[in-house]
Amino acid sequence: MDKTATVIAPSLLSADFARLAEDMDKVAADVDWLHVDVMDNHFVPNLTLGPPVVKSIKAATNVPLDCHLMIEDPDRWAVGYAELGAYNVTFHAEAAADPVAIAKDLRAAGSKAGLAIDRDTPVEDYLDILPAFDTVLIMTIKAGFGGQAFIPGLLDKVRAVRRHIDSGHLDIRLEVDGGIAMDTIEAAAEAGADAFVAGTAVYGAADPAAACRKLRALAEGARSRGLTSAATATGAVPG
Ligand code: DX5
Ligand code: ZN
Repeated sequence: MDKTATVIAPSLLSADFARLAEDMDKVAADVDWLHVDVMDNHFVPNLTLGPPVVKSIKAATNVPLDCHLMIEDPDRWAVGYAELGAYNVTFHAEAAADPVAIAKDLRAAGSKAGLAIDRDTPVEDYLDILPAFDTVLIMTIKAGFGGQAFIPGLLDKVRAVRRHIDSGHLDIRLEVDGGIAMDTIEAAAEAGADAFVAGTAVYGAADPAAACRKLRALAEGARSRGLTSAATATGAVPG
């Protein structure tokens, strides 16, 4: 995949859990990743699914799986999702004893390594370890439930991470999750996100595939406007 391409990742949390295969097929041609929210009723109050379901999901789709672990003790459990064939495994900084060691384990097991930053966690404490990761996930809500309202102030963290990635020439996806919809995705893209999780905006829509195409068009438009103005500011010629 082109490293700069926009990634659209519908969250299966908003799909019908009794019809996951059908709901995955509905969007497969129009998305880059499928976002799988693993919640353990400890790190977050909600409870969703774990390894047996991820294994079945993996067998039922060719779309790369983006596992978002909202669980305690990722030091112990995260690598199992890589071993099941997840494309990207993202765990929460707040839950990890040794985030860099987990990232190494994930990469050794064949997946990308992602670090998630929840609503109340400053991102500055983690900037130095970003080179160990392939993905940074900035929550734009408090992790735990779908259907919450996007919090615009959290885009300051996206901007800070984008500056850090660009100035350090890091090869990292910058993903946003929570309240991403037709009326918020452009602001997230302008702040520097390049991967977008959307649950309600996709599976709450009458036509989930059309919703994915529309989200992509909005994100790509906003990203190209942002890239053009950044190039103009530095005197570079937009390419
Ligand atoms: C919530 C999850 C999200 C959730 C987003 O903690 O991490 O992935 O599915 O749902 P929406 O897009 O409805 O905010
Ligand atoms: Zn998520």
